[in-house]
Amino acid sequence: MYKEMNLDLIDVNAEPPIEEPSRQYYFMAKCRQWVRDFEQKSGRLPKACIVNMGCQMNARDSEKLTGILEQMGYAPTEEEQADFVIYNTCTVRENANLKVYGRLGKVHHYKKENPHMRIALCGCMMQEEQVVEKLKSSYSFVDIIFGTHNVYKLAELLFLRNETGSQVVDVWKEARGIVEELPSQRKFFFKSGVNISFGCNNFCSYCIVPYVRGRERSRKPEDILEEIERLAREGVVEIMLLGQNVNSYGKDLKEPITFARLLRQVEQIPGIERIRFMTSHPKDLSEELIQAMKESSKVCRHLHLPVQSGSTAVLKAMNRRYTKEQYLALVDMLRRKIPDISLTTDIIVGFPGETEEDFQETLDVVRRARYDSAFTFLYSRRTGTPAAVMENQVPPEVMKERFDRLLEQVQRVGREMSGRFVGTVQKVLVEEVNVRDDSLVTGRLDSNLLVHFPGDASLIGKLVRVRLEESRGFYYMGSRVLGEEDKG
Ligand code: 5AD
Ligand code: SF4
Repeated sequence: MYKEMNLDLIDVNAEPPIEEPSRQYYFMAKCRQWVRDFEQKSGRLPKACIVNMGCQMNARDSEKLTGILEQMGYAPTEEEQADFVIYNTCTVRENANLKVYGRLGKVHHYKKENPHMRIALCGCMMQEEQVVEKLKSSYSFVDIIFGTHNVYKLAELLFLRNETGSQVVDVWKEARGIVEELPSQRKFFFKSGVNISFGCNNFCSYCIVPYVRGRERSRKPEDILEEIERLAREGVVEIMLLGQNVNSYGKDLKEPITFARLLRQVEQIPGIERIRFMTSHPKDLSEELIQAMKESSKVCRHLHLPVQSGSTAVLKAMNRRYTKEQYLALVDMLRRKIPDISLTTDIIVGFPGETEEDFQETLDVVRRARYDSAFTFLYSRRTGTPAAVMENQVPPEVMKERFDRLLEQVQRVGREMSGRFVGTVQKVLVEEVNVRDDSLVTGRLDSNLLVHFPGDASLIGKLVRVRLEESRGFYYMGSRVLGEEDKG
């Protein structure tokens, strides 16, 4: 796992090491020299901005990039008008791609004013060949293009760009092992994402992820546990285990292990008080996992269980490998075993061939599964996926009209559900002083909902008990309860 590496001890005049991660530390040291020269000449540190445009995995990769930038000596900024801007892209839906081209237009202006500026693009969108071709031919001002499999190489790529003076493109089709022991800089000191697997083997017919993130690869349990132990020593109390399909974790390892067993091992780590995970594919959600959740005092009573559609016919065309009835039976079992569980989901509207009857089945599942909240998406046609060439693509206006009805249903059910904890005392992890009223702090419940209550900054990062006094739709107002564990 990551051990502090002293860059001053690295001989930057020697040949670069072949082995990882030593090679990357060598290039970090090289780039740091350049940063120091910049500081001497301009009297300030160069500023770097990372724009995170995707999911939790994407955010975690951004933390790794931030760690490398920090080692090189860059000062972090949220302004895109910086000396180094990195767009960590997403490509799940077409409009995510369009946004990137929009941002590039803007940042090109900044670069004209500051020719030393560096612009890098990475993430899922870069794994698409036609995107990289377009960038190479029409966006020559972009300095570095890399993908999802070599995030750890940022320093080497930046060095190469500075040495050669030309655009550097390094996108790998396949992963080449998992590089451990690199720095990363967390956004919050008290909580962190932890990758447990990369890639996906499911090939849902609408989804581009298996093509851009590659086949599923699990990290070894000992590496994961070591990382979490280190995080706990650094003061992290909540971790989110991340994978495209956490339920199939460990099946590809030399010594296979189930996700439930990993969870039980994570639970043993002192200092970790809360465990979350995402995402769970319904077809792989085991009874063993539900049992492990039930018996745990640390695993949050929250499950994100994407349904995608309520129609068995559409689910089949989506290659989801469960029926409406099987999904609802799973929800029943979850509610029976863990009555206070909060369920959330992802739903796609307008998959090719979706009829009004199919859509009604989706509304029915929302009603019966009683989700606390749901992410709803308009189906987006992704080139290269089987669904993109299916007949009966749903017209945009039909999609939009269904989307609005779905949203209304999701919000109605969500409001009813989120009110159900009023009057109870719940554990809350305090995240920040309330942005609108500084006599309040804001924290998160097990269910992921927010609660605001009187308190001050000294509570940030602490788990406290809060009585939920009032539900305001999708958040609560509360007051702190001083119990036995909070005294002294
Ligand atoms: N169109 C719309 N939504 C999609 N998702 C994945 N691919 C597509 C697509 N082509 C949604 C799914 C998934 C979430 C992360 O994004 O609901 O669970
Ligand atoms: Fe995409 Fe399906 Fe894999 Fe999720 S499980 S990443 S929706 S292919």
